[in-house]
Amino acid sequence: MFSAEEYADVEEFYAQERPTMLHTFPSLAEKLGLGELMVKEETSRQGLPAFKVLGVKYAVERLRREGRLPPDAVVACATDGNHGRAVARVAARLGMEAHIFLPAHASERRIESIRGEGAHVHLAVGNYDEAVRQAARESQAHGWVLLSDTSWPGYEEIPRWVMAGYTHILAEASRQWIEPPDVVFVQAGVGGLACGAGSWFAQQFGKWRPFLALCQAANAACIVERARRGVAVRLEGGLETVMDCLSAGEVSYAAWPVIERLYDAYVGVEEEEAVEAAGVLRENGIPAGYSGACGFAALWATMRQENMAGLRAAAGMGKGTRAMVIVTEAQA
Ligand SMILES: Cc1ncc(COP(=O)(O)O)c(C=O)c1O
Repeated sequence: MFSAEEYADVEEFYAQERPTMLHTFPSLAEKLGLGELMVKEETSRQGLPAFKVLGVKYAVERLRREGRLPPDAVVACATDGNHGRAVARVAARLGMEAHIFLPAHASERRIESIRGEGAHVHLAVGNYDEAVRQAARESQAHGWVLLSDTSWPGYEEIPRWVMAGYTHILAEASRQWIEPPDVVFVQAGVGGLACGAGSWFAQQFGKWRPFLALCQAANAACIVERARRGVAVRLEGGLETVMDCLSAGEVSYAAWPVIERLYDAYVGVEEEEAVEAAGVLRENGIPAGYSGACGFAALWATMRQENMAGLRAAAGMGKGTRAMVIVTEAQA
């Protein structure tokens, strides 16, 4: 998705970034019948409890370089929680006003965490996708700069920069691992992280890239369904899940073609699987939230459930496999 210059630019921009941990868990790997288990822990990134600020900061940097974000700009976005908090944080640091749109069912905790960054919070009349449409409409009406992490036809440039920013997680991990993973499970809401991660692996390793599995909350699995049905999908309703940061009814327009080309498998994660996986991570010292634990939950289910034998075989998973997941968010 990105040119070599763009990956290099992201790394130059994040040259002073303090790395998050890449853990290995030999005993858990053995328990799962794997050779190695790598866990990239994004529970604290720049003082926020998720990775999302990496995308926001890089997109803001690109806009500022082009003179498209003057000091008196007002910014806006929709969010399930983390992207909006990151936008609010970055805007406040730059002295800019921010308007953040959340789904109607957003928890008080999410709302307060964004208000706590000094942003104006608006509750949409419906789900996350309605919040996306409302943020776009209001931005258009008021001349705000829309900093969306999801994209649609005609609005792709900023989400692309956001996804480029996420690639730093993998670039950083590559300086921490001894050997690259053979299999990677990446959780998705609208697919931005999955697109960024998949693109990075493809750029680094070409056809020798790891087996890539995308996972989502089964209750809001728009990308899993998109892949399964082979046609555009828009899921309706509240799409409520304990993995609340992954609640989205539509895949990001710019992300899908890349995901479709690069991902080898799609996994829906049940609510109780996410809860169990977060419990296992916490017992092992990683304070994972449920959205954050989704990738690990999919890996855990893949290795332990009889009905996942097909995926294990397709990915060639066994005692020699190095598997990797990203814990994308901390426990509240
Ligand atoms: C904690 C967490 N994990 C994963 C994701 C998925 O990212 P994306 O929506 O880009 O697929 C999000 C998105 O907000 C998130 O907050």
